[in-house]
Amino acid sequence: MCPRFDSWWHHFKKETHCVSFFVFYIGLIIKYSIMAYISDDRRKVTTHRLLEMKQRGEKISMLTSYDFTMASLVDRAGIDIILVGDSASNVVAGNVTTLPITLDQMIYHGKSVVKAVKRALVVVDMPFGTYQSSDIEAVNNAIHMMKITHADALKLEGGEEILPSVKRILAAGIPVMGHLGLMPQSINKFGTYAVRAKEEAEAEKLIHDAKLLEEAGCFGIVLEKIPAALAERVAKELTIPVIGIGAGGGVDGQVLVVTDMLGMTNDFSPRFLRRYADLFTIVTEAVGHYVEDVKSGDFPNEKEQY
Ligand code: KIV
Repeated sequence: MCPRFDSWWHHFKKETHCVSFFVFYIGLIIKYSIMAYISDDRRKVTTHRLLEMKQRGEKISMLTSYDFTMASLVDRAGIDIILVGDSASNVVAGNVTTLPITLDQMIYHGKSVVKAVKRALVVVDMPFGTYQSSDIEAVNNAIHMMKITHADALKLEGGEEILPSVKRILAAGIPVMGHLGLMPQSINKFGTYAVRAKEEAEAEKLIHDAKLLEEAGCFGIVLEKIPAALAERVAKELTIPVIGIGAGGGVDGQVLVVTDMLGMTNDFSPRFLRRYADLFTIVTEAVGHYVEDVKSGDFPNEKEQY
């Protein structure tokens, strides 16, 4: 072999070794960073992690679920918080308001959801009448709900008026999420589902209540249907996550009722709702197709029987 070619060949082998080692190690670093990110993301969401998300400006996603099947889909899709909302009263039981749903019914929904969820933080609504009359009754009901559902936290509607109950429940070691603005359990007092806190006095009370809930130790607050500017101000003034529904984009996260955002209903279209699917059409067409196939004898065919 020619000596010049020999030294060039030697140099080339050394260089390509260096380059391939470099590429190999960079590849490993990228691979393990991605794996760490994914496995991090699969860690159970805790109230502490929600606080960290607010601190680093990462928005928090939250949806309702009321049963095992939907909760497993929602959890698998990567939602941060699943709310077993008392909107089950409307969505599942067909009531006009959230008031009729009972403690036992909320426990049934909570238990079904918890069994399905691996990652999301599960919050269950305390139903109307289970925490307003006394702090002792509130804490007893809260303990009962936690013992049977195995949920991660509870949500209560109201500010100063229910503060003794919130403090008692927190003192029992149960994480509490607040809920201000439009509070559906108070619909008979409000008389309407219109936007709340548009007037200064109500807005000031809302800010006061939000601060009281934070001081008491709530890990987060839902703000429902209030002006976006007010919600943004609350989110800026609090250190705990503020999750909005119809409260604009200046808050720390968003919550929607799962059946609304999947378009399972077509008769409820508030301005804040974005539909991500049209399950109303998909389900009615699929069921219509099934009915036709059964009537015509097309279903089942020979491969669909034993
Ligand atoms: O019950 C519910 O679904 C709720 C959400 C609207 C926040 O409380």
